[in-house]
Amino acid sequence: MTVPEQPEAPRLPPVYRLVALDTVGSTMEEARRLAEEGAEEGTLVWAQEQTGGRGRLGKGWHSPRGNLYFTLILRPEAPIAEAAQLSFVAAVAMGEAIGTVSPPIEVTYKWPNDVLLQGSKVAGILLESRAAPDGTLDYLLLGCGVNVAHFPQDLNLTATSMHYEGVPRDVSAADLLEAFSRHFLSRVSRWVDDGFGPVRRAWLRHAAGLGEAIEVRLPRETLTGRFKDLDSDGCLLLELDGGEERRISSGEVYLTEQANAAGD
Ligand code: BTN
Repeated sequence: MTVPEQPEAPRLPPVYRLVALDTVGSTMEEARRLAEEGAEEGTLVWAQEQTGGRGRLGKGWHSPRGNLYFTLILRPEAPIAEAAQLSFVAAVAMGEAIGTVSPPIEVTYKWPNDVLLQGSKVAGILLESRAAPDGTLDYLLLGCGVNVAHFPQDLNLTATSMHYEGVPRDVSAADLLEAFSRHFLSRVSRWVDDGFGPVRRAWLRHAAGLGEAIEVRLPRETLTGRFKDLDSDGCLLLELDGGEERRISSGEVYLTEQANAAGD
């Protein structure tokens, strides 16, 4: 790990404490180490590139220089299940941040926490929690990766980058982090005051595939049905082809055209 020269350090609201790094394995591991040492809520570990970026469900995360990679330490006073709503808070704040730094462009959300630009994935969010010995929440690590300049060219991935979708090339990862930090703050304070409702509604207004046929891949089965709703815990409600409803807390969603393109 090396420490950067920081040519363009983002200006974050004072509740954040920025830890700006150059190359790391994963900002999740750096943030975990700091959280274990007692780092306060709002500590934000930002890296220019990652050599071992991690995604959801054990996947890797393509992390070359030019994109945005950070992990925010949170210590919410909420039960672990409720705190998981913060990943939706972050997805909506990231969608709003992209809207702030770019010309009008279609931002949608794919369950659980992907942000899409013109239907392709531009950002992903990884939430990891650690419980205290008494079972209460000790800290949450909120990891965000955004393809600002680059995206993986794997044909099965349907990924994109902000620059590829027409966001001006002078919009940098630091600009996006600044915008995110403000939107996240305002969304979190609304979440504390008013609960999950406002963020759930904002997410649903731009939800990809809502009301449509989707495929959900679980570890041991693949389900097909209609994406009916997002429940008050952030679970996806799927109406199976036979009419039965399933409540899904973890899995990989494929929108119909993606499922067809994957060819399996
Ligand atoms: C996903 O699979 O969609 C979640 C991707 C999360 C990637 C971010 S990049 C910053 C942080 N560090 C990591 O290793 N992963 C998260």
